[in-house]
Amino acid sequence: MADDVSKHGMWSSRMLFVLAAAGSAVGLGNIWKFPYITGENGGGAFVLVYLLCIAFIGLPVMMAEILLGRAGRESPINTMRKLARASGGGNDWTAVGWMGVVAGFLILSFYAVIAGWVLHYIFLLAGGTFTGADGDFTTKTFSAFAGQTLPNIPWQELFWFTVFIAATAYIVARGVSRGLEMAVRWLMPVLFTLLIGLVVYAAIVGDFAAAWRFLFKFDASRLTADGVLEAMGHAFFTLSLGMGAIMAYGAYVPARVSVTTTAATIAVLDTVVALCAGLAIFPIVFATPGLEAGAGPALIFQSLPVAFGGLKLGALVGAVFFVLVAFAALTSAISLLEPAFAFLVERYNVKRGQVAIVAGAACWLLGVGSVVSDPFLGWVDFLTGKIMLPLGGLLIALFAGWVLAKRVVAEQLGFAEGWKWIVWSVAIRYVAPIGVVAVFAYPLVTAIHEHLHAGS
Ligand code: PFF
Repeated sequence: MADDVSKHGMWSSRMLFVLAAAGSAVGLGNIWKFPYITGENGGGAFVLVYLLCIAFIGLPVMMAEILLGRAGRESPINTMRKLARASGGGNDWTAVGWMGVVAGFLILSFYAVIAGWVLHYIFLLAGGTFTGADGDFTTKTFSAFAGQTLPNIPWQELFWFTVFIAATAYIVARGVSRGLEMAVRWLMPVLFTLLIGLVVYAAIVGDFAAAWRFLFKFDASRLTADGVLEAMGHAFFTLSLGMGAIMAYGAYVPARVSVTTTAATIAVLDTVVALCAGLAIFPIVFATPGLEAGAGPALIFQSLPVAFGGLKLGALVGAVFFVLVAFAALTSAISLLEPAFAFLVERYNVKRGQVAIVAGAACWLLGVGSVVSDPFLGWVDFLTGKIMLPLGGLLIALFAGWVLAKRVVAEQLGFAEGWKWIVWSVAIRYVAPIGVVAVFAYPLVTAIHEHLHAGS
């Protein structure tokens, strides 16, 4: 069958697809964002909602993206067009692909800013800046670097942000097997090992019990409507769902790989990494005066240097750890651009290298807004994470569940009846879409509820 390979290239094995998709999923979302939003949203209850969203919404949507990608074998935009036509759906479904391309650019524009912070910290750590440092020192160091506001131009921030965008564009330009596979093959396992080491270290020197309670003790009173939306949005963000990144990668998956097993593997890996990041950071936060769980985006940059600063060889280990985080960010960043790249190559038959320059420049321009303005960064984060990704995920679930011909789905999943089929159908048709709609509606419902109570 001519359709059984993608013109953009193919993953050379099941293992490499899992690594690449896990490389996309595991990134700043796990190590930087998960701890800080958990800290801001009061811990346990937020974590539980996040885990439920991963299992009941994220997993089915991930399966849907992989199977759609592999059934279409093209960029998300053209895959959606092709599959919608073949199933008798309208051309409007291509909008899912377009929204994903836009979301990818928007996300990369601020993702690269945070990755730039990581790059800067590699050098601060390696230079021994934090040897023996306390919470006060790390907090001040961070705001001196990233807390500048206009008219001051944060040159250092701008520089590292630019380096990261350039590196991303360069790797995507090299294409599937040469660029993407190499970056994920070695670095992910090393990152994971170091992270576990850090958890052990944090357990020895920090307040592990307090961290455990904070992360896993369910306290419904700390749950807010905004927290629930944040948790769901983050489930999409951390698994790279809702914008076609996994769909694009799915297009390069060989025919015989199991969609269910790979999706589950990726989701579990991603979740374990996020929880480990929490277990590495919060023991330090709770044992260090001057640090707070609710510190916001600065959290890991304030807490981890304290841990490394108190460690023999901490400058070296800390620098290595941040190098690996930077690589984790890079393997995620390249997947943000892949849908756009694949589309442009299909549509205009251009070379990936040419696209890289234009795409990199566009992202850079957009990202400068986030470099100079924290509110702008927050706004782009909000628009993509809380609106575009969940909306994209909802549409993907609806398409896979209700529009796509059963024959296509069954062929991709490898089953068409029995309990597996029933679980899949219920999950993709009802549980995932209703979950997303319910979370979207929740703030509205609470607002009405509060309004009525205020009136009575
Ligand atoms: N999943 C990445 C992370 O957790 O850092 C971020 C991301 C990558 C989001 C790719 C969306 C995406 F398509």
